[in-house]
Order: sequence, then C-alpha cells, then structure tokens
Amino acid sequence: MPTITYLILVPMVYLAFLVFIVGTVIQIARIRRAPKNPATLQIFPERKPKWLWALHDSFLMPTLRRHYPLRWVILMSFHIALLLLIIGHLELFKGFTFFQFWEHEIFLGKGFVGLALSLALLYLLFRRFHSPARDLSVPEDYYLLILLFLTVLFGAEMDWARRWYGYAELSPGDYQTYMTGLLLFRPELPVAVYQTGHSFMLVLHVFFANLFIMLFPFSKIMHSIFSISLNKLRRG
Ligand code: HEM
Repeated sequence: MPTITYLILVPMVYLAFLVFIVGTVIQIARIRRAPKNPATLQIFPERKPKWLWALHDSFLMPTLRRHYPLRWVILMSFHIALLLLIIGHLELFKGFTFFQFWEHEIFLGKGFVGLALSLALLYLLFRRFHSPARDLSVPEDYYLLILLFLTVLFGAEMDWARRWYGYAELSPGDYQTYMTGLLLFRPELPVAVYQTGHSFMLVLHVFFANLFIMLFPFSKIMHSIFSISLNKLRRG
C-alpha cells in the first residue's frame, strides 16, 4: 500500500502536469495552424475596447443571465468557488501568504468552497439527464463531470473531516510539507500519510485530480482557455 500511495501522490502528479502542459501546447498549436474561418463569428454588436467586452462576455456571461438566470447564478458561484479553490491550493505551498491580508485559516472558506463546487457540479451533471441538455451531451461530458465531482468530493471531505468533525490526523502543515516538496522537486511525504486513515481521502483526491488534469487538454473544458479569444471574435 505505501508504494501505491507514493506512486499516486508523487510520480503520478508529475506525469499529470507533464501531460497537461504538452497536451495544451499541442492543442493550441493545432488550433493556430487550422485554416482561418472566412465567415465572421460576430454575434454581438461591436463595442470598444474589444478585449474588455470579451472579458465581460466571458466572465459575466450576459446572454446566459438574460435567458437562464438560475443556471447563471450556479455557474457564477461555480467559477467564483473555482477561483477561491485555486487560491486555496496556492496557500498549501509554504510561504505563499499573498492572500493572508484578510486573515483566514488554511484551507480557506471553512469547507464551503468544496461544498459550493460539489453542489454546482451535481446540478451541471443532473441537468444533462433531461432534454434539451441530454440531446446535446456526449458520454465525455458525463465522464468529465463525474471525474471532477469525485475530485472535489474527496478534496472537500478532507477539510470537512478536519474542520467540521475534528478528525485532524493530517494537518494543513502536513499538506504544506507535501505540496512544497512536490513544487521544489524534493518530494517528501509526511509520516502521517502512511499512519492515518485520513490519508486515503488525500490519495483518492489526488488520484482523481491527476486523471482530470491529464484529460483536461483533450476535453471540452479547454473552452476555459479559449473563451476570451472566442468572445473577442464574437465582438467582430
Ligand atoms: C483538478 C484539480 C483539483 C481540484 C478540482 C481540487 C479540488 C479540491 C477541493 C474542492 C478541496 C477542498 C476545498 C475546501 O476545503 O473547501 C481541495 C483540497 C485539497 N486539495 Fe485539491 N483539487 C485539485 C487538485 C489537487 C492536487 C493535484 C493536489 C495535490 C497534488 C491537491 C491537494 C489538495 C489538498 C492537500 C487539499 C487540502 C485539504 C484540506 O484542507 O483538508 N488538490 N481540493
């Protein structure tokens, strides 16, 4: 078991980020090499400056807000929670205190970041069991949503167990040792990882996260990288 734990928490993470970086570069190169689409993609009235309106369209999703207000609220909460999640993971690296101008415990959000993401992902998954979303969905959509949901669930469970149920055999300090070691290519697993029941949640969290990170460049979620440039084209 120690070997599998080590394989998932160390080499598999490096492999996942390698596949992510190489895959993303290949996808961007492929799209840049594709023949330019002669037809205009303009669907919004041209407004200047285009980059600012492209940011507005990408992050505030005005069309969705007008036509599907509930889905807009859930998607906005999802993306805000995702931003907080990225900050939360950055704070798991020793010395990263940039966001400590507002004092908060690590992992930030008192467990509600994970809760918001879990609920939003359940909504995004279940809406695809009904028309018209079901008719527009392909198996990849369900696999990706389920994989992301499992990643989020085991990540959040680690925090809920410690914060809401006092099950704190693995502390934020242990996570910082682990994450900082990974970043500095001097991987170090705290002994608690091998001695506590808590660590199975960490192993499952990182296992599903690695799979998600490897699949990302080859999936529809790449839209997150191209949405701004696409919205710029839609502004003419
Ligand atoms: C797709 C990528 C990932 C997603 C969606 C994700 C999601 C999450 C979520 C939702 C939480 C709990 C947030 C909360 O407390 O409310 C979390 C915590 C955590 N994640 Fe991730 N994560 C990802 C990748 C990773 C990776 C690659 C690692 C390590 C190599 C990692 C290590 C951790 C650790 C150590 C915690 C802290 C748990 C705690 O405070 O108890 N995560 N993650």
